[in-house]
Amino acid sequence: MLLGHPPMSLPRVESRTSSASPPAAPKLHLVTFGCQMNKYDSERVEGRFLKAGYGLTAEIEQADVVVFNTCSVRDHAEERVWSWLGELKRHKVRRPDLVVGVMGCMAQRLEGEIFQRAGHVDLVVGTRAFQRLPELVEDLRAQRARAAASRPNGLSLTGMDERPDLEREGEQYRGGTLGYLTVMRGCDLNCSFCIVPSVRGRVLSRPPEEVLREARWMVERGAKVLCLLGQTVNSYGEDLPEVAPGQPRGRGRGGRPSLADLLYALQELPGLERIRLITLHPAYVTPALARALAECDKAERFLPLPVQSGSDAVLRAMKRGYNLDLYRRKVELLRQAVPDLELGSDWIVGHPLEREQDFAASEHFLEEIGFAVNYVFKYSPRPGTRSDGFEDDVSEEQKRERNARLLALAERVQRARHAAQLGREQELLVEEPYERRPGVWKGRTRHGLAFALEARDVSPGASVRARAEQASPYGLAGGLVCGERAGTAPAGAP
Ligand code: SAH
Ligand code: F3S
Repeated sequence: MLLGHPPMSLPRVESRTSSASPPAAPKLHLVTFGCQMNKYDSERVEGRFLKAGYGLTAEIEQADVVVFNTCSVRDHAEERVWSWLGELKRHKVRRPDLVVGVMGCMAQRLEGEIFQRAGHVDLVVGTRAFQRLPELVEDLRAQRARAAASRPNGLSLTGMDERPDLEREGEQYRGGTLGYLTVMRGCDLNCSFCIVPSVRGRVLSRPPEEVLREARWMVERGAKVLCLLGQTVNSYGEDLPEVAPGQPRGRGRGGRPSLADLLYALQELPGLERIRLITLHPAYVTPALARALAECDKAERFLPLPVQSGSDAVLRAMKRGYNLDLYRRKVELLRQAVPDLELGSDWIVGHPLEREQDFAASEHFLEEIGFAVNYVFKYSPRPGTRSDGFEDDVSEEQKRERNARLLALAERVQRARHAAQLGREQELLVEEPYERRPGVWKGRTRHGLAFALEARDVSPGASVRARAEQASPYGLAGGLVCGERAGTAPAGAP
């Protein structure tokens, strides 16, 4: 069977051993939990440690510095980090010189509590200050060398005024074919259930020149797909200054640069094959964005456009800023521009006030829109959010049951969506080999659908034509179209 079952959330990612650093160099091991933005931030942190003369190790036992990049979006994500920190405690008893750092959303949210519950943590660095980690670690190691007996107290840095995205010139690119590129940070919306605005702060869009410089830097080093990241990536530019009279105007509000402008600019970048977007918010879907998607063929024909619930009453309680009617109109606008567009959604089941009929409305809406990819989450109360003030009035049992029901329906809809591609020739971008399936490659169709390609002599980054012979709820599988020659690896690819 070619088709695997992809995980519903990103798996944990750990540092890969670097080859270039001298054997005596101190070594970092970084463990990443949570979303793609964390993955990007971890790459940046690894890059800065490498630049500072460190090596990376895939073996936690061999590390001199261990950093956890954490997630707070659901309670379960935090529990996983606590249990890893617990494991590490034993290790630190044997290796008192080990430096332990915690970065990311949980670091930002809990700060002092981390030192209280895990006394072996040395550094807590928030969501905007993480690029300072190498200096902080160096200071700590120097301090320890001076006063070997006394252990300095833990240091935390969680201010939100830092500029997290520094130039990458002089760093190594380790992203491979698929490069994550954060174009904006933070979120200015305030969905009732969501911890993100409080831990990631207000929106901070990067200037377009900076985004393009980094995109070029990545593509020159082997990236073929750029995945533009933002909590509401299609609100990119809203916070940038209005353009002065006489200056070139963008397609955003008041002539500001927008995501549409980034798409047109990246479309012209030689060597770049695909542009992927994560995550869009329905309220910021504009005609200019729909047009840009239609006109830029490097943009994948897939958009993650989370609806969260199919009930207007629950959407109101969630303060999502749209109702179903508006969501439908946004989808219509997008599908008028790009008729074969595929959509993905996140769903929360068991949010406070979700009655059986509201849940049934979510089932209807999932089917009505025909989402090709769905992530279903059981509501998890987050301290300090508006929803946490409501009574968590859906029992765990009901949440579990609704979760299973929505997943079962999602699988049926997804299978049909994928099956519609059977027999059609697909333009496939090959991303990487499957770890334990020799001769099978992970690729994505132009519609962003996962494709398991059985082929010999294919390389990451190759664009090939393939035909789907099998469909599952999670992807397609098949081989090359007859006569197709396998592509070659891009120059400079790792
Ligand atoms: N910025 C993105 C999502 C951020 S969090 C957006 O605009 O949608 C990723 C997903 O986690 C959300 O889409 C939501 O479905 C889920 N999520 C967020 N908070 C949650 C909570 N308290 N309980 C359960 N799921 C949650
Ligand atoms: Fe969270 Fe809503 Fe922003 S889900 S990240 S507050 S758009």
